[in-house]
Amino acid sequence: MAALPRSFVDQTYRHQPLHCIEVLIVGVTSALEQKALRRRLQRKRSVDDDFVIHPVFVRSFEDTLHEMRVNANLQAVVIHGGFPLHSQDCHLATSHWGLEGLDADIEAVPESERGPMLGRLIAQLRPELDLYLVTDGNVEEIAARTGETFKRIFFREEDCDELYPSIMRGLAQRYDTPFFFAVRDHAKLPVSNFHALPVSRGKSIRNSNWIRDRAQFYGTNLFLAETSATSGGLDSLLDPHGPLKIAQEYAARAFGSKRSFFVTNGTSTANKIVMQALIRRGDVVLVDRNCHKSVHHALMLAGARVCYLDAYPRNDYSMYGAVDLRELKRKLLVFNRAGAPVRLVILTNCTFDGIIYSPKRVMMECLAIAPHLAFLWDEAWFAFAHFNPTYRQRTAMESAAKLSGMLQDSDYAARYEAFNAEAQDDERILNTRLLPDPSKARVRVYATQSTHKTLSALRQASMIHIWDQNFNEKAFSDAYKTHTSTSPSYQILATLDLARAQVELEGYKLVQHQLELAMSLRQRVSGDPLLTKYIRVLGVGDLVPAEYRESNAESYFDEKSGWSNFEKAWRTDEFVLDPTHITLEISATGLSGDTLKKHLMDKCDIQINKTTRNTILAMTTIGTTRSDVANFIQVLRKIALDCEEKGRNFSKIERSFHDDKVRSLTLEQPLPDFSSFHPAFRPNMEIGDGDMGLANDLAMEDDNCEYLQPADAERAISGGRVVVSASLVVPYPPGSPILVPGQVIDIPSLKYLDGLDVREIHGFDRERGLWVFTEETLSRILDERKSTAEHGGTS
Ligand SMILES: Cc1ncc(COP(=O)(O)O)c(C=O)c1O
Repeated sequence: MAALPRSFVDQTYRHQPLHCIEVLIVGVTSALEQKALRRRLQRKRSVDDDFVIHPVFVRSFEDTLHEMRVNANLQAVVIHGGFPLHSQDCHLATSHWGLEGLDADIEAVPESERGPMLGRLIAQLRPELDLYLVTDGNVEEIAARTGETFKRIFFREEDCDELYPSIMRGLAQRYDTPFFFAVRDHAKLPVSNFHALPVSRGKSIRNSNWIRDRAQFYGTNLFLAETSATSGGLDSLLDPHGPLKIAQEYAARAFGSKRSFFVTNGTSTANKIVMQALIRRGDVVLVDRNCHKSVHHALMLAGARVCYLDAYPRNDYSMYGAVDLRELKRKLLVFNRAGAPVRLVILTNCTFDGIIYSPKRVMMECLAIAPHLAFLWDEAWFAFAHFNPTYRQRTAMESAAKLSGMLQDSDYAARYEAFNAEAQDDERILNTRLLPDPSKARVRVYATQSTHKTLSALRQASMIHIWDQNFNEKAFSDAYKTHTSTSPSYQILATLDLARAQVELEGYKLVQHQLELAMSLRQRVSGDPLLTKYIRVLGVGDLVPAEYRESNAESYFDEKSGWSNFEKAWRTDEFVLDPTHITLEISATGLSGDTLKKHLMDKCDIQINKTTRNTILAMTTIGTTRSDVANFIQVLRKIALDCEEKGRNFSKIERSFHDDKVRSLTLEQPLPDFSSFHPAFRPNMEIGDGDMGLANDLAMEDDNCEYLQPADAERAISGGRVVVSASLVVPYPPGSPILVPGQVIDIPSLKYLDGLDVREIHGFDRERGLWVFTEETLSRILDERKSTAEHGGTS
């Protein structure tokens, strides 16, 4: 937001600060007209206005699109009909814009159509902006055709008086934070509390002899705002009818969903809610094995038949990428043929390390094989992505919207007919881009986002966004109520409302800034001769194999071609890298990722995100500042200088130790694939899925299981025993499992476990060992399966 000129502030007394907003005025060309418009705006200003409009004038179609890109302060656009196409100052390189409609011959568009067309393009680039059209054409007809693009359409001569209040109102709707205001107002009430809430209004703390001083740390408002849904006065998360309902509707508008829901226990809970709503006992679910632990817990609770998919490995850096689309299609075919159609596909987008799918392409091709399939996209790291056009195209909700539009389009129906006329053998299904049948495919898309990870919300603040043509309100509501606390934190919910308002008003600017800082950090480290001796920034060429990069892009930004590589690759490639996830390969320092992470936190006050044995992951977010980046670079240089100093003074033996350490960190360590489920847990021996519910139920009983140290497990496996995990074994971070209940433990998994350098491994007791099924339990289950099959059940 632009700083407010002093003259505005001095004009009048105000109880709250004014915000100066920029409104783009397209097609008001002469200096005289511009002056007159400025004067009109000034006359309309009132002391009650929350905003002061600062008009920005552009003359042409090209100038407008350019301004859309570069002016992050814009809040609204007023398009006056009759503007020229071409700019006198800038030439539009449309080739990398990725805008639908720009490919059409814009020269051929009649002048009367330019306004609506420009509106549609702006809506693609900056959907958060309010658009207004002022025309002397046939407004009624234009409104009927393009009504959803513009907030209002005005006939030039008549109703322009309403334009100013419309702009003010449009902005006020985004600026409004109904639930935050409700909490704030509640905090002002002089309530005497007879509810079970001693902390309410801070009384139990303020009156304490022992902890009163600690409360000062938080300030009084935290406690004044503490309340409960059942005490009345505020809306209820489990049955919202007031400000919480409106706040969630605003979130749906902001994030482009049909419905959005607030969640107060993080995406861990959001995932469980969606999965309970969608999965019935025995349903087949395809899941990336590297999905977050919450997904696996939910699969166990749901009693799903789970088929794990392996993401491509990056053995050099001990991290997984994403799941090949051909693998997904292959699995869908297998299950279709086995008469067990897949109900749900669950993928992480983007991954901890920043690998991103093309959700639209994945869903299109999968729906061509299984038209009723539902998708859960775990976007824990991706809440910000909606507010930048390049990122947005790879979000679940934007993809759902595009898919939905495409399936209703008559041109697409014709394209599908032509595609379908050709023979469909497996070879073709796997190796061509499939098109779904528009008469059968349903758009069923869910996204879960940790708002707290990438936007301005308190820890645990998450959202679920939904675009589901078959939405089952009852099932979703039951699942939501199952997992939602009856005492949700109102502070967390209020920050979800604030985070939404913030991104609707300044998301574009903030994400752009986050991206620029990431690029600056990447370039600084990569261009520094000292740093590059010890630290290497991994680019898309390192983390996404060439076969998934149709664009051949090795990096996304350079001084010569700017961002054009970035936008091109994000339009075409199967997987791309989020440049704001910055992985630094540090083998040459001789330090492991975990050791460096500890050093950074304990000695340099720098908190990083995740490590592998030879990498650390740093992220820029909308909260990162240039000083943070500068500080990080200073600290990295200090580490590099220490390495230099040490290197100069190494004794012979120390050098040899150091070289060995560097060598061991550099050596490739193969990552284990998912081995298999043990036959005791496989409902159908022909296909690879496992009954996670059964494995989990049995694992809860001590008599069925025993502890085995990894070394003993390795010996037992070498001796011929089939050792089966009874536990979900999850190194944290990143929180994706090495073993799941019912999985056959293999030597590569044990070796991987042994080589891990994280301290927290959930489901693995270092003193006692791995929790595994006894051999007797496995034989008993197999016998029971056999006998069920002999008596006519399935095996
Ligand atoms: C991919 C993914 N999904 C879900 C979660 C859980 O999110 P939350 O911490 O909001 O519960 C995480 C946490 O790191 C994650 O990485």
